[in-house]
Amino acid sequence: MKDVAIIGTGGHAKVVADIVLSSKDRLVGFFTNDNSVDNFMGWPVLGKDTEYNKFMDCYFVIAIGNPDVRERISNSMDGVKWYTAIHPSASVSTIHISIGDGTVIMANAVINPYAQIGNHCIINSNATVEHDNQIEDFAHISVGAKLGGTVKIGKRTWVGVGASVKNGISVCQNCMIGAGAVVVKNIDIPGTYVGVPAHRI
Ligand SMILES: CC(C)(COP(=O)(O)OP(=O)(O)OC[C@H]1O[C@@H](n2cnc3c(N)ncnc32)[C@H](O)[C@@H]1OP(=O)(O)O)[C@@H](O)C(=O)NCCC(=O)NCCS
Repeated sequence: MKDVAIIGTGGHAKVVADIVLSSKDRLVGFFTNDNSVDNFMGWPVLGKDTEYNKFMDCYFVIAIGNPDVRERISNSMDGVKWYTAIHPSASVSTIHISIGDGTVIMANAVINPYAQIGNHCIINSNATVEHDNQIEDFAHISVGAKLGGTVKIGKRTWVGVGASVKNGISVCQNCMIGAGAVVVKNIDIPGTYVGVPAHRI
């Protein structure tokens, strides 16, 4: 059993807490820069995210949806043990998979063989990460998003709720793929893409 502290006190933190508890690990508490809360979901707020070093025996997970914020906080926390949170209901292949430090795999997500997932990513509820996908650090595959086989998703890219990426497609770093978009061509220019087929706005 691991002692786990969660960075963040938003909606995403509630779901990450559920994973910790479902995994039979021990939730120690939360960190937040919001001074107005001293407990969250009945667990104590242990301090601001800069005060993590009082709890170095814990494993940490950053439960904040925004990729840039996750990257900033993770870079500021030296020497911590990162908790990789995988909900027991997620279907995670055991064949040539890698899942990075601090990454969160939510309920009913599917991770198929040869998928490589970086550090501090979020694979949200019901998302599908198909065979041979490469998902770089801090990417977020939102609720119900579907990636076909051999898709590449760049660093910090956020694939919105229910969006799809056709097999074999690469999406570069720093993109926002809008909710419900369908990406059918490679995306090489960072930006926001929406619609079917997805286009830049
Ligand atoms: C794409 C997105 C980032 C755009 O947000 P925004 O920059 O605030 O843009 P706006 O809401 O001002 O919309 C700009 C235009 O794009 C359209 N648009 C926005 N999101 C769209 C989407 N997902 N699909 C199609 N069109 C969309 C709007 O209708 C608007 O069109 P208009 O100018 O003709 O009125 C946002 O709408 C979105 O889809 N976010 C994904 C959220 C998500 O999945 N979160 C994950 C939770 S797990």
